[in-house]
Amino acid sequence: MTMTRDWVARAGQGVGGEITVPGDKSISHRALMLGGIAEGETQIHGFLESQDCLATLAAMRAMGVVIDTPPEEVILVRGAGLRGLKPPRDSLDMGNAGTAMRLFTGLLAGQHFDSVLVGDSSLMKRPMERVAGPLREMGARIETQSGRPPVRIFGGQQLQGGDFHLDVPSAQVKSAILLAGLYATSRTSVTEPAVTRDHSERMLRAFGVNVVSDGRKVTLEPGALTGLRIEVPGDFSSAAFFIVAATLAGRSPLLIRNVGVNPTRTGLLDILRLMGARIELERVRSAGDEPVADLRVHPTRLCGIDVPEDLVPLSIDEFPVLFVAAALAEGVTRVTGAAELRVKESDRIGAMAQGLQAIGADARALPDGMIIRGGQLTGGEVDSHGDHRVAMAFAVAATRASGAVRIRDTSNVATSFPGFEATARAAGLDLEVAA
Ligand code: S3P
Repeated sequence: MTMTRDWVARAGQGVGGEITVPGDKSISHRALMLGGIAEGETQIHGFLESQDCLATLAAMRAMGVVIDTPPEEVILVRGAGLRGLKPPRDSLDMGNAGTAMRLFTGLLAGQHFDSVLVGDSSLMKRPMERVAGPLREMGARIETQSGRPPVRIFGGQQLQGGDFHLDVPSAQVKSAILLAGLYATSRTSVTEPAVTRDHSERMLRAFGVNVVSDGRKVTLEPGALTGLRIEVPGDFSSAAFFIVAATLAGRSPLLIRNVGVNPTRTGLLDILRLMGARIELERVRSAGDEPVADLRVHPTRLCGIDVPEDLVPLSIDEFPVLFVAAALAEGVTRVTGAAELRVKESDRIGAMAQGLQAIGADARALPDGMIIRGGQLTGGEVDSHGDHRVAMAFAVAATRASGAVRIRDTSNVATSFPGFEATARAAGLDLEVAA
């Protein structure tokens, strides 16, 4: 168990300069999993060494995959092949990582051995039937405990493909089905209610799998993977905190270099632009199969808006910091159609409404979103509920608060953004670890 650790954040001298953010979490998890079941070696450059991704790394090793982590910024995965994973001795601990648990459920459904997935106290409360249900339809044998972890997967089942129509827009569920589809006897298709992040599809294609995307439908033919070199771009979801901070509290433009700008991830840019933000994409280029750019963020005043519901899945991890932007915008912002936020690492609607109210914001939680009237923030004490993104969002709120903001329980920031404190200070945030 991690110790709790608080921050005290204050309005600093203003945000600006130049920073980079660590590698993309979603892409790092997928690179390890796909590299582990590929033929030959996969080199991962820019891997995110966060607790979540290290849980995936440990699980792959526990199933016999040889992974070298030389001191240079590259991870070498010696692929075991599609049928080469070995039974783990113990249950596999996913820590705080929902992505790891859901994707592994799909990957392990196709193995010849049994396995059990567990996690930390937050993950043990999260819904798993959304993945277990469709995988059972493919022929998998999976047990959850009243819909939650531990997830017990009984191997040795022959999986069949099929056409799956999802009720929730979830890249994790889509990806779990696609991973199981690699082991099926026939083709698998997944149709989502709305487009979600497509890193799995892009990466599977790069590994040589026949995957065709057509709007909200993706179809995969079972087949083997061939190792390759993967370049992991900076995580847009980590950059998001600084995009909002630089917009709200900039003393000069902030340049964030080498950020993944896959359009299935950048809904926040669209939302902030609707609110009046000025964010430029420079040097747009490709890192393998993913688009990358440098982001130049100009300080601007924001106006409240009704957030278009079709942008919600494309910005799903950015709502904690978006609620902060809304609390400092002029006028009212309404977010609806975002009930999924209730089942993230914390209940992000509840946690953010409570914290914003504690620092003087006019925020009212809805079952599926929030109504926020922008105004002045005071100082105060907020609880992150052990949620990395809630903690970082309140560090951004403090850049415009009239008093100090104490943010409780920030240890889990290391699940996605190791080094956040140093990067935040480099960008001009005033952040101290409380004694
Ligand atoms: C992720 C998908 C999203 C996102 C999570 C990462 C992924 O979850 O919130 O942080 O890597 O596939 P859902 O699939 O539950 O929406």
